[in-house]
Amino acid sequence: MNILITGGAGFIGSNIAEEYVRLGHSVVVVDNLSTGFIENVPKGTTFYQVDLRTEELDDIMDRHEIEIINHHAAQIDVRHSVANPQFDLSVNVMATLNLLEAARKRSLERFIFASTGGAIYGEQDYFPADEQHPTRPISPYGITKLTVEHYLHYYHVVHGLDYTVFRYTNVYGPRQSPHGEAGVVAIFAEKILNGEQPVINGSGLQTRDYVFVQDVVRANVLALDMEGTDTFNVCTAVEKTVLDVFRGLVRVSGKSVKEEHAPEKAGEQMRSVCSYQKIKERLGWEPRVFLDEGLEITYEYFKEKHERA
Ligand SMILES: NC(=O)c1ccc[n+]([C@@H]2O[C@H](COP(=O)([O-])OP(=O)(O)OC[C@H]3O[C@@H](n4cnc5c(N)ncnc54)[C@H](O)[C@@H]3O)[C@@H](O)[C@H]2O)c1
Repeated sequence: MNILITGGAGFIGSNIAEEYVRLGHSVVVVDNLSTGFIENVPKGTTFYQVDLRTEELDDIMDRHEIEIINHHAAQIDVRHSVANPQFDLSVNVMATLNLLEAARKRSLERFIFASTGGAIYGEQDYFPADEQHPTRPISPYGITKLTVEHYLHYYHVVHGLDYTVFRYTNVYGPRQSPHGEAGVVAIFAEKILNGEQPVINGSGLQTRDYVFVQDVVRANVLALDMEGTDTFNVCTAVEKTVLDVFRGLVRVSGKSVKEEHAPEKAGEQMRSVCSYQKIKERLGWEPRVFLDEGLEITYEYFKEKHERA
């Protein structure tokens, strides 16, 4: 298949692009390198440095006879979305609308969209949250992700565009950037390797559902053969605390690192965990890598990178 992956120089998108190439698909990567890196773009893809807000993709779509769009480019920083909601809107909604219009004009086979299971549900009424859980995002980032889900519904009903929405929880693994605020695993791993002190916000007892990037990649492979249109959580249904992450990484590092806390961040969600029952029933997807193993693989990746630098 001819697939266009936006955000394919980023953490998740590049891992998906690599697997699609390995499976024999023809892959075009579009990314403006705002948070992605050229060295992440997998061999065997065609790369265009393009900002989705400003540039038309018509030429690229036609030249490569694109059949599927897999949309992973985004402004992913929740705090940045609070500081600058207009910027978040321009990247996460306006740029997506450019893509959706391009998809509509060409009657594409499918639009795959990376949404969020953490930010979209807000404070949960029950645990784990299934896809029927009320959506009450408490950040502009959560609002723009939900808005795109609504647009997809419209494009499906009115224009017949099939889509797959994946609501990821906290994705971690090789190639995650340690520089944003999103990836606590990458941030702690990098600090430990640099001999710096990782800082735990608040008690560290806030929970998240950590899903390994290769499991996310498998969901994106299954989406290529999917029939119809649907929205799925992609998660582990296991709640882990920030302290679990910290202690797990310290263990795999073999170093002695003290536990240091900072005041808790205002408005931070205390518990977040989702159910994968629906994607298991519909696509046969289940998580395979759980936190202990995933931390080992991820730490090893950062260690090798560190040794090479
Ligand atoms: N990492 C997570 O835990 C997580 C959880 C839920 C959802 N998601 C979603 O998954 C997707 C990928 O996230 P990630 O963690 O790989 O982030 P990332 O920052 O590594 O990747 C995003 C990519 O999009 C590119 N990009 C940003 N704005 C662009 C624009 N205007 N035009 C073209 N390219 C642009 C960036 O350069 C980057 O390469 C995002 O949509 C994110 O919202 C991530």
